[in-house]
Amino acid sequence: MKLNNLIWAAIAAALSVQSTPTPEFNTIEARLDEAARIGIRLNLTQACTRLQQQFSTRLYLPGSAVYDYETTTRYWTAVDYSTPACVFVPKEPSEISLFVQVVRLLNVKFAIRGGGHMPIPLYNNADSNGILLSTSNLTTLSISSDKNTLSVGPGRRWREVADYLASYGKAAVGGRVGKVGVPGLILGGGISFYSSQYGWGSDSVVKFQCVLASGQLIEATATNNYSDLFWALKAGGNSFCLVTRFDIKVYNSPSVWVGIAQYDASNREEYLNAVYTFGAFGSQDPKSAIVPTIIMAPAAGLTLYAATKFYDSPTLSPTVFQNFTAPVLTPLIDTITYQPLNDYLAQTDPLQPDALRQKFRTLTFVVNKDAVTYIHDTFTTRINELAAIPGVGASMTFQPITKNMLQAGANSGGNPIGLDANNGPYFAVVLNWNWLNAADDAAVSTFASGITAQLEAGLQSRGVSVGFRYLNDADKDQLVFQNYGAANLAKLKSVRSKYDSARVFTDLMPGGWKVAAA
Ligand SMILES: Cc1cc2nc3c(=O)[nH]c(=O)nc-3n(C[C@H](O)[C@H](O)[C@H](O)COP(=O)(O)OP(=O)(O)OC[C@H]3O[C@@H](n4cnc5c(N)ncnc54)[C@H](O)[C@@H]3O)c2cc1C
Ligand SMILES: *[C@@H]1O[C@H](CO)[C@@H](O)[C@H](O)[C@H]1NC(C)=O
Ligand SMILES: *[C@@H]1O[C@H](CO)[C@@H](O)[C@H](O)[C@H]1NC(C)=O
Ligand SMILES: *[C@@H]1O[C@H](CO)[C@@H](O)[C@H](O)[C@H]1NC(C)=O
Ligand SMILES: *[C@@H]1O[C@H](CO)[C@@H](O)[C@H](O)[C@H]1NC(C)=O
Repeated sequence: MKLNNLIWAAIAAALSVQSTPTPEFNTIEARLDEAARIGIRLNLTQACTRLQQQFSTRLYLPGSAVYDYETTTRYWTAVDYSTPACVFVPKEPSEISLFVQVVRLLNVKFAIRGGGHMPIPLYNNADSNGILLSTSNLTTLSISSDKNTLSVGPGRRWREVADYLASYGKAAVGGRVGKVGVPGLILGGGISFYSSQYGWGSDSVVKFQCVLASGQLIEATATNNYSDLFWALKAGGNSFCLVTRFDIKVYNSPSVWVGIAQYDASNREEYLNAVYTFGAFGSQDPKSAIVPTIIMAPAAGLTLYAATKFYDSPTLSPTVFQNFTAPVLTPLIDTITYQPLNDYLAQTDPLQPDALRQKFRTLTFVVNKDAVTYIHDTFTTRINELAAIPGVGASMTFQPITKNMLQAGANSGGNPIGLDANNGPYFAVVLNWNWLNAADDAAVSTFASGITAQLEAGLQSRGVSVGFRYLNDADKDQLVFQNYGAANLAKLKSVRSKYDSARVFTDLMPGGWKVAAA
């Protein structure tokens, strides 16, 4: 690829580097050699200041309102807030290409953030030794002329996608919470209300547009020259390239049955049975989905039982939710109604408050009644050990990974996840803690790691433990790619080295799960 030497000239000017005439470089490596030769040795603070002078509508320094917005407001949780040396907010994919070349020239660390919902410090933000690349302004949202494919930029969240698609009577295989970002969810797989019909969110991607470590902007599809990269991006995370646009299949779904039911704690036994039976048999009706969540407020001694129920048809199945409805399990309240999905997402976004401290951990097991009860009982009992921590709350959600979901993924070309449909169905459990003060981070972490190990051992002894750890729900020390299966891991590693031999997205962009480290 012939690189645009205007970029070099602009950077050289910004950094006050004397290099005339502008040399001809055919590779970024040649340019890096030149940068080293003429001695680009600015420290990061200086570099940010000079880049700001050159790219004043894209580069924001500490103290500016945009900097504050991009380093706090755009994040879900306070654990992600940080103080990067500066924030770059491009509007065009070509500017990401320029950015990659700049950070490589300067040898500066960076992070990329989409919807900002991954609750792990520095997995989606940079510290003062790095630059934050915010995709907030990559806001493409357009539908193909046949109305079957949506092009969406990485600055979008699923609620915006649902709002846009509502006018076409279409739906995407995206987040069950509206404020979650498009890019992170897809790059980790993506569990959707529509997953039993269409697989992981990433299984509906038909094209990734992204910037490689070379700075080259490419498009990866299942059949073009980048088909290996296309496969890797369907749950391989951020080790490969910076995605600038997702083209995803969308499906007819003008309105759906969806709402949240709450149950009295005295119905614990019936509730757990309903969760279990849905996990075991729910996959038989792929139009259905549930999100069963048990919410704990230990200081108040409260345990709440809730379940989102979803059905993608104008006619609600009379049987699929029978164990979640009267007379088997009578809800205290139930908001299920036939409505456009974006209305439901608008109502429920406020249930996930911003700016708290948050942690996820995840476990997977083969659907089994005794294991559901065991996890429930252990977690709801032991959570009381955290009752003294200010503002502490917790939840556990049993996410069904149905055979239909895994089969749908395989049918659309497969992905790196490697969960065997034949051994399913599974529950991918997400455990969540939220609290108020950074001073309590260590106590919550210690507790969370300890109880996860205990639950894993309990699943092992019941013979239902599964290695899979869902990337989007995992905590920093949990093993993600190691559990995709040896062949998938080896393939991910070889694709990674093929497209980023210089380890730009591994070493210069250290945040996130790294294929090279697995
Ligand atoms: C309230 C809530 C609800 C959730 N609901 C669901 C759900 O229904 N289904 C589900 O599957 N998951 C769900 N999740 C998990 C969610 O999928 C992950 O948190 C996901 O990482 C969020 O994506 P994001 O774009 O908001 O994240 P970010 O934190 O912005 O990014 C996550 C990771 O992706 C990388 N990344 C971001 N953009 C790019 C890009 N353009 N190119 C390359 N790498 C990039 C980042 O560096 C980071 O490591 C939920 C999470 C929360 C907090
Ligand atoms: C970077 O350079 C500036 C200006 O010379 C200096 O004030 C600052 O301390 C330097 N920062 C670091 C981290 O070296
Ligand atoms: C993002 O785009 C909007 C709309 O064009 C613009 O008003 C805003 O200034 C941009 N933000 C940044 C940080 O560039
Ligand atoms: C295909 O991609 C490889 C790099 O992955 C590159 O070396 C090769 O030139 C490309 N071929 C075409 C036809 O684009
Ligand atoms: C409801 O639960 C019973 C056992 O308690 C089970 O036989 C039945 O299959 C369940 N129904 C559904 C739709 O899951």
